[in-house]
Amino acid sequence: MLDLKKLIDGMTVEEKIGQLAQFNANVFSGSDADITGPLVKNGLTGDDLYRIGSLLNFKDSKEMNELQKRHLEGDRNKIPMVFMMDVIHGYRTIFPIPLALGGSFDTELLEECTRMSAMEASSAGVQVTFTPMVDYVRDARWGRVMETCGEEPMLNGIMGAAQVKAFHGEDMSKFGGLATCVKHYAAYGGAEAGRDYNQVELSEHILREFYLPAYKACIDAGVDMLMPSFNVLNGVPAIANSWLMKKVLREEWGFEGVVISDYNAVGELITHGIASDKKEAAKYAFENGCDIEMCSNGYIKHLNEMIEENIFTEEQLDAVVLKILELKKRLGLFEDPYKGASPEAEEKICLTAENRALVRKAANECAVLLKNDGVLPFSKECKKIALIGPFADNHNIIGFWSCCGKNEESVTVKQGIQSKLPDVEIKVVKGCSNKWNEIDKSEFDEAVKAARESDIVILCLGEPQNYSGEGNCRSDLDLPGVQNELAEKVIVANSNTAVLLFTGRPLAISKLDSIAPAILNMWFPGTEGGNAAADLLFGDANPSGKITMTFPKSVGQCPIYYNHTNTGRPISKQRDEMHNPYASNYIDCGNLPLYSFGHGLSYSNFVYEGMTLSKKEMNSDGEIKVTVTVYNDSDIAGKETIQLYMRDLVASTARPVQQLIAFKKITLNPKERKTVEFTVTEPMLRFWNSENEFISEKGEFTLSVGYADNMYYTESFSLK
Ligand code: NOJ
Repeated sequence: MLDLKKLIDGMTVEEKIGQLAQFNANVFSGSDADITGPLVKNGLTGDDLYRIGSLLNFKDSKEMNELQKRHLEGDRNKIPMVFMMDVIHGYRTIFPIPLALGGSFDTELLEECTRMSAMEASSAGVQVTFTPMVDYVRDARWGRVMETCGEEPMLNGIMGAAQVKAFHGEDMSKFGGLATCVKHYAAYGGAEAGRDYNQVELSEHILREFYLPAYKACIDAGVDMLMPSFNVLNGVPAIANSWLMKKVLREEWGFEGVVISDYNAVGELITHGIASDKKEAAKYAFENGCDIEMCSNGYIKHLNEMIEENIFTEEQLDAVVLKILELKKRLGLFEDPYKGASPEAEEKICLTAENRALVRKAANECAVLLKNDGVLPFSKECKKIALIGPFADNHNIIGFWSCCGKNEESVTVKQGIQSKLPDVEIKVVKGCSNKWNEIDKSEFDEAVKAARESDIVILCLGEPQNYSGEGNCRSDLDLPGVQNELAEKVIVANSNTAVLLFTGRPLAISKLDSIAPAILNMWFPGTEGGNAAADLLFGDANPSGKITMTFPKSVGQCPIYYNHTNTGRPISKQRDEMHNPYASNYIDCGNLPLYSFGHGLSYSNFVYEGMTLSKKEMNSDGEIKVTVTVYNDSDIAGKETIQLYMRDLVASTARPVQQLIAFKKITLNPKERKTVEFTVTEPMLRFWNSENEFISEKGEFTLSVGYADNMYYTESFSLK
């Protein structure tokens, strides 16, 4: 039996500190891994090669095996390094971005995709993934909205927890079992003006009610690690914020896992103007419970010195080392430091036909039919198709954070349609660029000609995949460049047009919405995007995705979200388009969004036939059964997510106008009717009041079924 405490007793202080350091693999790899190369640039010595506890961002199993072998040969304690990476929406076979997956409302699908990526990642040597990312978001300008499940705290938590369990698999110590790291704690998504890394200022009850629950849900699901966010939260950067890191995380939530800084976040305490030098930065991070320092060298350089100066004790250091070694033990690394990773395993497991089939299914389930005036689905009997736009034959549709996925391995829209309809003539015209600063219209005439001469037009528009993701924020949310003008010309030329939208965020596409007969939002669909688009366009798949982040009408509405409060001066839906003086609204734009959270059409026609409550009064230990009946009044089988919302009509703190409290996704065959049942209990009615107590208050509530401003039925009840 491996005795970790004994192992630690035999380690020098330098060796112990090494376990707390993480660097990029390229610092150690190749012939450059000597003391004159990148090691020196990072302030490391040759000995650190054999002391460092973990690496991130290595290339593949070959490199991982080499690095591990060399390390173990040189480390007298024979402690394996642990290899970490961002496996966000697939390792090699890429599935839709998390923002899209959230909208599938399908945890089983998410788990299946996560298991697939865990197996692929494991074959390449990944042992820990920096997932799930559950930052709560309300502002589509922020590029990292693509990594989250959107603006619904409960949904984010459910999806995050599902990922934690799926990455672990049945036995984390075996091949295919990955440890997880929830991030970015906390409220990174609240960045002012949607600008990445920007400061966040939030009241405690808003933080606790909307921003914190998803991190907590992941902790409850057994997440192994946690990454504090880059941002300043209420004046203090997360990693040095003792309220966040000590009081809430460790004391209240009892998190005992490993905390890892984000990339150079310890070093950035200096640029934040919080620490005067690296030593002070390392001090703040360590004293607030940051266990591993990613890609800065404050611990390596100064922790020993601080122990000698009695700022910290060696016992404190030992406790951290123990946590890290326990993680390695749980991962099975002391038995097999390579965990079965090999080029042969990669070859066998990655990008298989089975994996491709799964991500195609996922892309089908995640696409959202935003609008359909009846043109979709298209008939396969067509003869000639015009495929117009910057995404018509574009492999760059796998999305940001695609890990080791390769754009060139993805299926383009053209390829997908061609393989479905091999005898149909397809004319591809790019038409214009998808970049904001490229305004060349020289292909417009060709696009118009192709549209005129075809039975069907598929306009493939959107923003480049590197317009979302880390550091990629936008101040304008419309289609970049001259895509709107292209769309206008093409739709005038042929109204049998559907738009395929590719995006990593909600876009403010009011103009497009006003002219396009149909818009199918593919988000960034991943490796099988083109095949999924073909399935959906031609009716082999029926859209069932919903949006989990509100699409604004214009960027000026941001932040915009469904679970807002009423204000003292709201306007009614009917008056939304006019200016209502002395009311909470704009002169030049209504308050309603373009598409609300929960919106998503289908080729089926789902009719909500009624909602009943088992009683009108509930005691705090009681429950109410809510039944909702839905009928598929069409000849097409489809899936529908039934969403149950709650509103607390009078409370000591202003409550949101709607709050999702439960959902169920069902399949309905043609002309089929189903009744689903929800159980409402008192804890579902709780909220954080301004005293920061998590309570429910007696009084009147409503329950509604539908979504955002489109509720089909509303009934009230009282909590006694
Ligand atoms: C920075 C990102 O903020 C974080 O999400 C990621 O896990 C790390 N870099 C490591 O790649």
